[in-house]
Amino acid sequence: MYRSHHCGALTAAHIGTGVQLAGWVAKTRDKGFMLWIDLRDRYGITQLVLDEERSDSKLLETAKRIGRETVIQVSGTVLEREAKNPNMPTGDIEILVTSIDVLSPAQTPPFTIEDNTDGGEDLRMKYRYLDIRRTPVQQSLLFRSKVALLVRNFLAEHAFVEVETPYLIKSTPEGARDFVVPSRMNEGQFYALPQSPQTFKQLLMVGGMDKYFQIVKCFRDEDLRADRQPEFTQIDCELSFVHQNDIMACFESLLAFLLEEIHGVTPKPFPVISYEDAIKTYGNDKPDIRFGMTFTELNDLAQNKGFQVFDAQELVVGIAVPDAASWSRKQIDAWVNWVKRPQVGANGLVWVKCNEDGSYKSSVDKFFDADGLSKWAEACDAKAGDLILVMAGNANQTRTQLSALRMALAEELGLRKPDEFAPLWVVDFPLFEKDEETGALHAMHHPFTAPKPEHLKKLESDPTAVIAQAYDLVLNGNEIGGGSIRIHDRITQEKMLSLLGFSEEEAKAQFGFLMDAFRYGAPPHGGIALGFDRLVAILDGKETIRDYIAFPKNNSGRDVMIDAPAPLDTDQLDELALIVKPKPE
Ligand code: AMO
Repeated sequence: MYRSHHCGALTAAHIGTGVQLAGWVAKTRDKGFMLWIDLRDRYGITQLVLDEERSDSKLLETAKRIGRETVIQVSGTVLEREAKNPNMPTGDIEILVTSIDVLSPAQTPPFTIEDNTDGGEDLRMKYRYLDIRRTPVQQSLLFRSKVALLVRNFLAEHAFVEVETPYLIKSTPEGARDFVVPSRMNEGQFYALPQSPQTFKQLLMVGGMDKYFQIVKCFRDEDLRADRQPEFTQIDCELSFVHQNDIMACFESLLAFLLEEIHGVTPKPFPVISYEDAIKTYGNDKPDIRFGMTFTELNDLAQNKGFQVFDAQELVVGIAVPDAASWSRKQIDAWVNWVKRPQVGANGLVWVKCNEDGSYKSSVDKFFDADGLSKWAEACDAKAGDLILVMAGNANQTRTQLSALRMALAEELGLRKPDEFAPLWVVDFPLFEKDEETGALHAMHHPFTAPKPEHLKKLESDPTAVIAQAYDLVLNGNEIGGGSIRIHDRITQEKMLSLLGFSEEEAKAQFGFLMDAFRYGAPPHGGIALGFDRLVAILDGKETIRDYIAFPKNNSGRDVMIDAPAPLDTDQLDELALIVKPKPE
């Protein structure tokens, strides 16, 4: 037996007991005549003690030489501590050590294994196994495991069946590039790793599985950000004989269940907002609704009043920043410069202070009197003490820029509270996006998304006006899930692919298997996939998913610990027919 207890288990109730513990040496304190060792495992820390009076002198000497992160096994007796530590579960006791076995010596680690480590991101990723020893990383992984279990239990209780789908497949378009895998047995041919199990889960519905789920890895070769990894995990689901509302109700109850189990909060019914309204009110389709500062269009009140900067613009739009009228010119100028940075790219920012005494002071006082500005304030729902910030320009760009400003201001003002949860649904997405330059249509979600039945007839005549039966689940300004009702008839699917620019042959080659399946009785079906990494991070009050993935990739898509990706040797390249040998003379 390596251990009788974990390092987090012993309390005053165990005083006088003989115990064995095993773990890592987190810290030692050597007072000469007395030595304390903090022994750590996943469950906690237990203080060990040896001294000249009570311990064998050789044992004390051996113990003094044991370095940090050495793996040891100890036997001893639980004693009451003289100086108790109320902040630790084991703070009432310590172990008087009678024997120590070194199970594995350790070099000095390249960074300290502490909550606030001195190790930078790169170093911690290179030695991720050491990073994982740190409590915050362990807590994140334990939290992830807990959420996975809750999700599995919930879905199992709702009659979902977990089915595994293959990783070596053909391209499933979700809008990113594929990672490809060469086939040795089929020279010159490649598998694609799934961007999602989309087509397989639809085929499971044709196969009569009725309700499917899978906590599954997906692979997308796209630019990385804090909320994106090249391989990430989805809670992927599909249901038969359902309408959009059925799916939304089911997954709303899943998220509500998680919020209740984890945070003890019962959310109100989730607001449902159309894509168009989301864009007009928040400037993006994944609004953070934990705070206000919603957009107000001011074209009618602000144009043709002599301020030419506004006059020729497609959109003049403002937000009211709460309690910011007291900001100094320096503070306001800092935000004006912030929006002018290339990352945001705005031309500038007009400001109006709604002073507590009812007066106004603005950067456009020459063009707008108090009466004019009071109308802006009324429209923006700005109160005395608020600051109105206004941008003007091309509608799409200006909304994106003001949205970036809204989020940054909220961050600065502490309005993005990590322990507050504001879920919502965004619905009524257009089925297609049009490439401004080429005029080509792209699927806004994916090519299997069904149009609203009443919009079917517009598919050919006015495709960009067609609204999809698609929905996104948004939590605290992050898209945590997306799904749709699917096309389940061959003719519509063929038409959809043709509108997306697939020739008949291309459509058949890439998706013939799905359209063939629809010939054999396909149930109406739909589903959703939640980004599991994102969900876990946000439920834990964070936004960086890397912290919730045991072995993540860095921003260049590399695993710096195992040093991947890596070149193949020539033999392997040959075997995979990836290079052609020059022919002998
Ligand atoms: P979608 O492409 O919207 O839908 O993906 C679903 C959810 O997965 C998460 N996500 C990611 N998380 C981390 N890193 C990434 N690179 C990444 N990409 C996406 C997001 C997103 O909302 N097959 C459809 C679902 C369906 O229609 O049922 C799909 O994959 O949280």
